[in-house]
Amino acid sequence: MNALAPRLDAARAEAPVGTPGGAPAVSLAAQVAADFPILTRRVRDKRLVYLDNAATTHKPEAVIEAERAFYRESNANIHRGVHWLSQHATDLYEGARERVQRFLNAARSEEIVFTRGTTEAINLVAWSWGRANLKPGDEILVTGMEHHSNIVPWQPVCEQTGAVLKAVPLTDRGELEPGAFEAMLGPRTRLAAIVHVSNALGTVNPVAAMIERAHAAGARVLVDGAQAVAHQAVDVQALGCDFYAFSGHELCGPTGIGALYARHELLAAMPPWQGGGDMIRTVSFEGSTWADPPARFEAGTPNIAGGVGLAAAIDYVTGIGLPRIAAHEHALLEYATEAALRIPGLRLIGTAPGKTGILSFMVEGIHPHDLGTILDAEGVAIRAGHHCAMPVMTRFGIPGTARASLAIYNDERDIDALMAAIRGAQRMFGTGARP
Ligand code: ALA
Repeated sequence: MNALAPRLDAARAEAPVGTPGGAPAVSLAAQVAADFPILTRRVRDKRLVYLDNAATTHKPEAVIEAERAFYRESNANIHRGVHWLSQHATDLYEGARERVQRFLNAARSEEIVFTRGTTEAINLVAWSWGRANLKPGDEILVTGMEHHSNIVPWQPVCEQTGAVLKAVPLTDRGELEPGAFEAMLGPRTRLAAIVHVSNALGTVNPVAAMIERAHAAGARVLVDGAQAVAHQAVDVQALGCDFYAFSGHELCGPTGIGALYARHELLAAMPPWQGGGDMIRTVSFEGSTWADPPARFEAGTPNIAGGVGLAAAIDYVTGIGLPRIAAHEHALLEYATEAALRIPGLRLIGTAPGKTGILSFMVEGIHPHDLGTILDAEGVAIRAGHHCAMPVMTRFGIPGTARASLAIYNDERDIDALMAAIRGAQRMFGTGARP
């Protein structure tokens, strides 16, 4: 039996669209495709088959219009003006913060710090919390499937503080080695920094259980949720994490905006990591004092329109419903997996049960970059390479993969086009013939 089948059956049972045993993937995609104007464009004189959603999703009209309307009707700087328009823009931005708070079920809006995205959110924790709290010999525990953005920020902080970075090894299916996370947590572990969903493999980590174990060991926990929030509901209070980071642009929102959730008592004790306007209480040439969180961590004029656009994106995905989105993507992943496994010489990288809509693969005799270029000529957009997860590629002994990543507007036609293009590449290279 296909390893994905039990999860897919459950997802189908939840799906409010489609027919029994039929294709909910087509139904939801058909309903939402018209919301995404870019999907009507042609590339290289072909229908755009966009399967690079883990890199960034497309934006629905509601998000595009929210940003446009902000600049046309509400544009002013925030937190600074006594005039009406500034107060109006401030209300919109702070309203967006409340939307993020509700989206993650944070206890209060002051626990939401706007950032440029996941990468900046993790850097904030590294440079503020990390430098203030880590000592020589302390350990930061990450997993072997982290994106570079949850590896690299810790390395200079380790150099400065004398802390040590350790990584939990992976199985051949792309899961954490059973028991390894627990075994590697020790009295010196100060922080577990773990990815919720792997961008390279699609693996969903059991973060709730990991958070519980890390807390029992006395460590704080940061979760990189960049690939999770668009595909499943996240409740930071139920998870109990200390920090949760995500980006807007993988959630049908704008680029350049994301957020860090952090428990208020942690934020209140953390020093600023960037200085400038809006993050201070008083300034003199002798020294300055800091504003309360979240302002303390938001130096300078922020991406106000981006915040407004992010709120619109959250309204859009929650309006469809995250369980419905998950059901759609899981059904489509099953369809794609079965089609991929019928292609001779195709090897899937990342086969964890219950994974999200990411299909990473190698095709025998064709370098992933060549494959990506050939697929592009057919209008099929995928990502090829290490996906900013070089340690994953090292673990599997490969230079990179071709990666198709799914979103709500993808359907079986997109998968059929992908598979046809792969077979075309094999014909071009003279590979793929059955023995
Ligand atoms: N994290 C994004 C990706 O995996 C950029 O492509």
